Amino acid sequence: MSSDLTASNELWIDRDDIRQSKIVQRELTPLKEGEVRVAIDKFGLTSNNVSYAVTGASIGYWGYYPAEQNWVKVPVWGCADVVESNYDDVPVGERLYGFFPMASHADLLPGNIMGDQFTDTAVHRQQLPALYNQYRRTKAEPDFLTQMENERCLYFPLFITSYVISDYLIDNDFFGAEQVVIGSVSSKTGFGLAQILKQAENSSRKVIGVTSSANKDFVARLECCDQIVEYGNEQQVDASRPTAYVDMSGDLRLTQALHNHCGENLVESCIVGGTHWEEGGRPTELPGAKPRFFFAPSQIAKRDEDWGAGVVMAKAAESSAQIAKRVAAQTTIEWTRDAQSLQSLWLDILDNKVSGSRGQMVTLLSGN
Ligand SMILES: NC(=O)c1ccc[n+]([C@@H]2O[C@H](COP(=O)([O-])OP(=O)(O)OC[C@H]3O[C@@H](n4cnc5c(N)ncnc54)[C@H](OP(=O)(O)O)[C@@H]3O)[C@@H](O)[C@H]2O)c1
Repeated sequence: MSSDLTASNELWIDRDDIRQSKIVQRELTPLKEGEVRVAIDKFGLTSNNVSYAVTGASIGYWGYYPAEQNWVKVPVWGCADVVESNYDDVPVGERLYGFFPMASHADLLPGNIMGDQFTDTAVHRQQLPALYNQYRRTKAEPDFLTQMENERCLYFPLFITSYVISDYLIDNDFFGAEQVVIGSVSSKTGFGLAQILKQAENSSRKVIGVTSSANKDFVARLECCDQIVEYGNEQQVDASRPTAYVDMSGDLRLTQALHNHCGENLVESCIVGGTHWEEGGRPTELPGAKPRFFFAPSQIAKRDEDWGAGVVMAKAAESSAQIAKRVAAQTTIEWTRDAQSLQSLWLDILDNKVSGSRGQMVTLLSGN
């Protein structure tokens, strides 16, 4: 790895029109008191990052790494080395995993230091969801994690969510449902959930995946669904059985179709994502359970109370590693290594040109 310590290569997104982006070479100014500077040599990019951009104002994702005027830095999950340090407990050479900008460099203000993690304590981050302020110190982590860096950037934030949703369903005895319908099941979060439900010893629920015709074969190859339904064919879902709907698509038409089809047998309607980010909208009165937004950090906080701090995340990380290994033969990992190519990739992801079967890893670090 080479790290040019004069400038950070970055991609900024227009908050008013997320198709617009600009490549920025930001001059690196002297590091402030107590800060560390990291060189980000890899990060993953999926529809989840599009959701960070779309919900940047409401959830706060734009606030972690402020840019300028209407430009925002969309966060990503990545790995980085400390290349400069004004904080003795986090020295040069430490490897970190966490929430970074689409950039080659970033500055962090470590605090609450523990053996395996610290918190970025910068004032502008204090009001934002706390989970994303934590950075893992990978030298203290189990070998299976350090050996799966790419998978960790690309899949773990999604498969951890899949695990937490499955735990939420189990915790609530599936709200009485006999089957689970997963919207946009070809997304990593979607097929991760399907994999967990299919393997779970404590769930005999039927798993129904809803997807586009383009992704149907990929989902079939994963062998994680008892039934696959194409968009537009929602009437193929057995409406006589109590049904839980977990939606990664955010597609209003699909939500309406499933609620109207299942009626009062739709006993849970859980909005997780918005892969169909231009097809959203607020549902008006619908039969069945009222759709509610699922925010993984809330269920994680509940389990930290129930089971002790960190237990749910450790279980979710192990589950993620298992799923990543299970799907390896059916998925690819592709690399993007410069800002111009990242600009194109960003548009491709926005425009549904990157199936969930394709994992996109990126580096903006020169010489990488
Ligand atoms: N609430 C939470 O805590 C939480 C946490 C993690 C993830 N999520 C959400 O889960 C969703 C899935 O994220 P991911 O990273 O797992 O996705 P991903 O793997 O990148 O998903 C790719 C799939 O999404 C669909 N898709 C993507 N772009 C599309 C477009 N423009 N129009 C129509 N379909 C499109 C396609 O699936 P189909 O053909 O099957 O529709 C495609 O195969 C995201 O919206 C993310 O925000 C939420």
